[in-house]
Amino acid sequence: MENNIVLLPGDGIGPEVVGQAVRVLEAAAAAAGTSLRFTERLLGGCSIDQYGTAMTEETLADCQQADAVLLGAVGGPKWDDPQAKVRPEQGLLGLRKGLGVFANLRPVRVHPALVSASPLKPERLAGVDLIVVRELTGGLYFGQPKGRQMVDGHEQAVDTLVYTDEEIRRVVRLAFRFAQQRRKKVTSVDKANVLESSRLWRKVAVEVAAEFPDVALEHMLVDTASMRLVTSPAAIDVLVTENMFGDILTDEASVLAGSMGMLPSASLGEGGAGLYEPIHGSAPDIAGKGIANPLGTILSTALLLRYSLNQPEAAARIEAAVDKAISDGLRTVDLGGSLTSRQMTDEVLALLNV
Ligand code: IPM
Ligand code: MG
Repeated sequence: MENNIVLLPGDGIGPEVVGQAVRVLEAAAAAAGTSLRFTERLLGGCSIDQYGTAMTEETLADCQQADAVLLGAVGGPKWDDPQAKVRPEQGLLGLRKGLGVFANLRPVRVHPALVSASPLKPERLAGVDLIVVRELTGGLYFGQPKGRQMVDGHEQAVDTLVYTDEEIRRVVRLAFRFAQQRRKKVTSVDKANVLESSRLWRKVAVEVAAEFPDVALEHMLVDTASMRLVTSPAAIDVLVTENMFGDILTDEASVLAGSMGMLPSASLGEGGAGLYEPIHGSAPDIAGKGIANPLGTILSTALLLRYSLNQPEAAARIEAAVDKAISDGLRTVDLGGSLTSRQMTDEVLALLNV
């Protein structure tokens, strides 16, 4: 059976890291006897330049029909005008919503050889292996009403944090299912001392926990969580939280791994195409130089193989090859080395087959 993968390289370093990661994905899939068909589409700033919109309906339809979508990054200074009506990020948010990928998984592991690349003390990093499950299609990013209006002669802006119990339940359930395969602990992060939506979140989390007697649930306020992520990150197994809390906490968590360039993500819904992307952005400062760290995107293809193509062995082989490359001291510029994106990928490819 042929698997249909849509590639959305996007802007900045996106095309560079996706181009490299596809080489690894193809090699790992071929070794597993899986054939892949790639379709490339525009998303973000490049789509605005070409079509005047950050994502066309055709692109969304192609993604909806695919088995999986691999995305690079969107955005850049060229499209950064806050007054602009069309923004690259609209493409990304529309894609997440259009695919119904309500759970964004961001695993953070600290490779022992990269401990010194993190600003944290080495003893705090020992044993860090956590997953953030970020709610991705609701919360503050999508709630209505949203917009501007004049109130008593003053311009007012409004964003709304709204969740239904069902939106909370499905993402918290997914977090518990992951915890069952891991260290059996879920940290549900909210701001229940202030926000009504968080009090509903907490109530639903308690209900879901009753379905999973083998998994422990702890609640943590988001301000405390932001502290614990750097003071005792090894104590966290699966952290589940609201869309914007998760956005903020995952950038913080990425510091643990030594470089944002290392971290993959998977966005999943109920069936349908999964969306895979590195958590780093378009990095306009280094775009076009061929020096971006491709490992976050390469590791995202491992997640793609695992969650969308049901090829766990191929996924594990990619992860092992990346681990070995790092253990062998191979480094791109972000980690103090001098390998180009292509050279780093060549090394991973060589290690895939040993
Ligand atoms: C991320 C990014 C996006 C988000 C931006 C680019 C809209 O920061 O994937 O974390 O906030 O979700
Ligand atoms: Mg972010």
